[in-house]
Amino acid sequence: MAADPSEVLFTVTRAHLDTGLRGIPVGTCGTSKVDPIEGVSYVGYPVAEMVDVEPEAAVYLLYFKELPTPEQLAAFKADLRARQGLSPTVINAIKAMPREGHPMEWLMAGLVYLGMTSKTGDWVEDAKNLVAKSTELTAAIFRVRSGWGEPIAPRADLDLIENFVYMLGVPGADNAKLTEVLRSFYVLHLDHGGGNLSTFVGKAVASGNADQFASACASMAALYGPLHGRANQDCLELVRKVGTDDPEKAAAYIKAAFERGDKIYGFGHAVLRAEDPRARVQYALGERICPDDPLFRTAKTLRTVAPAVLGTFEKVSNPFPNVDAVSGALLNAVGLTDSNYYTVLFGLSRMAGIAAQVIDERVRARGGKGVPIYRPKYIAEGQPPRHLNKS
Ligand code: MLT
Repeated sequence: MAADPSEVLFTVTRAHLDTGLRGIPVGTCGTSKVDPIEGVSYVGYPVAEMVDVEPEAAVYLLYFKELPTPEQLAAFKADLRARQGLSPTVINAIKAMPREGHPMEWLMAGLVYLGMTSKTGDWVEDAKNLVAKSTELTAAIFRVRSGWGEPIAPRADLDLIENFVYMLGVPGADNAKLTEVLRSFYVLHLDHGGGNLSTFVGKAVASGNADQFASACASMAALYGPLHGRANQDCLELVRKVGTDDPEKAAAYIKAAFERGDKIYGFGHAVLRAEDPRARVQYALGERICPDDPLFRTAKTLRTVAPAVLGTFEKVSNPFPNVDAVSGALLNAVGLTDSNYYTVLFGLSRMAGIAAQVIDERVRARGGKGVPIYRPKYIAEGQPPRHLNKS
């Protein structure tokens, strides 16, 4: 049954102004849903079940709203593989980027170059190009900026994440474990409803009829902020500072840090009000692949200790672990030890979900007409009528 267009979903009062649109419905989302207690589901499938699905199948689901049959999956993988390959212009641009730039700044700049060299202007084609090419872009950023060596070209016989790990060529890493962690990381970070900052920003930019690459670049700028995607980097730094799996010492650290006004990265969420299932999946993965790793053990201690401490403060509405609480400890344990790069990995994955939502808004919404250019209303304030004195 079609939804009643006159249904009142929300009443905006003056108290809602200047609150970052918190909780105010502004559109529909067909890729994912965030339940405050259950967490995110992708087109109806709980995220914890999605980690057993191949990354390309998860992307296909977000793009086409059905899991692929084996034949469809094989064709989708082949399609993505055929789109691989960065132009030398992009590689040269990466090599010329300033070392002092943050990897997220490199990613933003890289996306602009990718757009200039490979956009078609077709929302669906470019969404696939973005997924196919962004692993190589990300791997090249890691290699060049970290000084690991020349970028490595993709192979035609590997799946998306296997190829990414191959192109990363992380010195001394156990590639089997790295692949396991990155496959799960990629699927868990793909999408998180329509209103998270990077997704909202990407869709807003796309609504002006820019293109998928410009939209992805704007999204990555939004994700770069420590209150959004960069929290995964800051969370590992917090885990490093706590530096113990002793519950009492860890609790004392969190209490003192919170009382002096520090942000406790990895705990709390704008929408969730229970432990994030994406964190739960990663704690279980850590138990399998690095149970004795010191940072994993600290992160595991914080899983219980931080909510117990934070929950005693009235102003904390959700003291529970979110997706960032343990992801850094896992990445570190499998060889990606520089936390500056963690948000780039988040961005690599989230770009696919954002591109899927952009397709929905640009070519499917409103019977194919698309969502018009974003133009919310701001109430003018503090502007009494004035005139320049022309005498
Ligand atoms: C997340 O993945 O948790 C987000 O992007 C943050 C949000 O949902 O607002």
